[in-house]
Amino acid sequence: MTARFITFEGIDGSGKSTQSKRLAAVLKAQGTDVILTREPGGSPGAEEIRRLLVEGDPDRWSPETEILLFTAARRDHLEKTILPALEAGKTVICDRFADSTRVYQGTARGDLRQTVDQLHDLMIAREPDLTFIIDMDPEIALARGLARASGEDRFEDLGLAFQKDLRAGFQTLAAQAPERCHLIDGNHGPDAVAEQVRTVLNAAL
Ligand code: TMP
Repeated sequence: MTARFITFEGIDGSGKSTQSKRLAAVLKAQGTDVILTREPGGSPGAEEIRRLLVEGDPDRWSPETEILLFTAARRDHLEKTILPALEAGKTVICDRFADSTRVYQGTARGDLRQTVDQLHDLMIAREPDLTFIIDMDPEIALARGLARASGEDRFEDLGLAFQKDLRAGFQTLAAQAPERCHLIDGNHGPDAVAEQVRTVLNAAL
């Protein structure tokens, strides 16, 4: 397998972190040099910015300020972690990337998609090779996410209507970029979801 940049996306509690870990483990076991990383975060500076974004009151930042903070974190992550790994021939599996900003800040938090796209073009200008969007019932996903009581619930605290908007936003995104984004039915156990991911990956290779 040549160097690849693979991302997982989805609403809060959709199980994408579990699936990212599982795919990384499978590829490692096959001898692929893989790094597993996440956003916001994935580099020391971006992990510091993460805390500002995921903790505290939902009203803490406006959607516009969030776009700037997520993009700042992404830029650092790209410079320090993602690009060096890809250049070293590694496969990068990333739990969330720019699609989350397109959907969370660009669509669900406000009508800001154009701003998100402009900043992305200026500061990031990089797309994954392959994206898995774990699609599932927002009610079940939100209950699962909140049950974790991780202290990182700022976006979960925006409620069920927000998660429904997010789901619709991810579905639209998948329809707009079908060559890159693959919707995975997350309304099943982790083994069945992992199986769907493997099938899509094998077909894409
Ligand atoms: P996580 O819980 O998947 O680690 O993600 C942290 C939260 O940040 C999650 O609620 C989604 C949100 N988020 C955005 O709103 N915009 C973004 O660009 C990213 C990467 C995450």
